[in-house]
Amino acid sequence: MPTIRFLTSGTDVDFPDGEDVNLLRVALRNKCGVPFKCATGLCGTDRVRIVDGAEHLSPPKRRERELLGDLLDEGVRLACQTYVSGPVSLYWDPDQKSIDEDSRAGKRLLAEWLDAEDGQ
Ligand code: FES
Repeated sequence: MPTIRFLTSGTDVDFPDGEDVNLLRVALRNKCGVPFKCATGLCGTDRVRIVDGAEHLSPPKRRERELLGDLLDEGVRLACQTYVSGPVSLYWDPDQKSIDEDSRAGKRLLAEWLDAEDGQ
């Protein structure tokens, strides 16, 4: 039975072999404390950094790639957009805000959007 280790809260959650489970759903059901807002891949509040087991995660889809950008290469994923099929360990900043407020990727996105507005 694989285990998801939520290192920030010190919570280990087992799930049945052969299942793909949504990371945010598991976190919420087990009161792991992962911050979130939209649960639809739009806000980036539920960023988690994968320490082990990235190979057991679903590949990022377009929305997650667009929102996270370079952060994906640093092992960051959006819990609401990520499905887990094997053992994984992760942590997060319990005080983190939505991605437009406090991240490098957010600043990059904001700069892109501002440039786009300038060009119109
Ligand atoms: S909770 Fe908003 S992107 Fe996941």
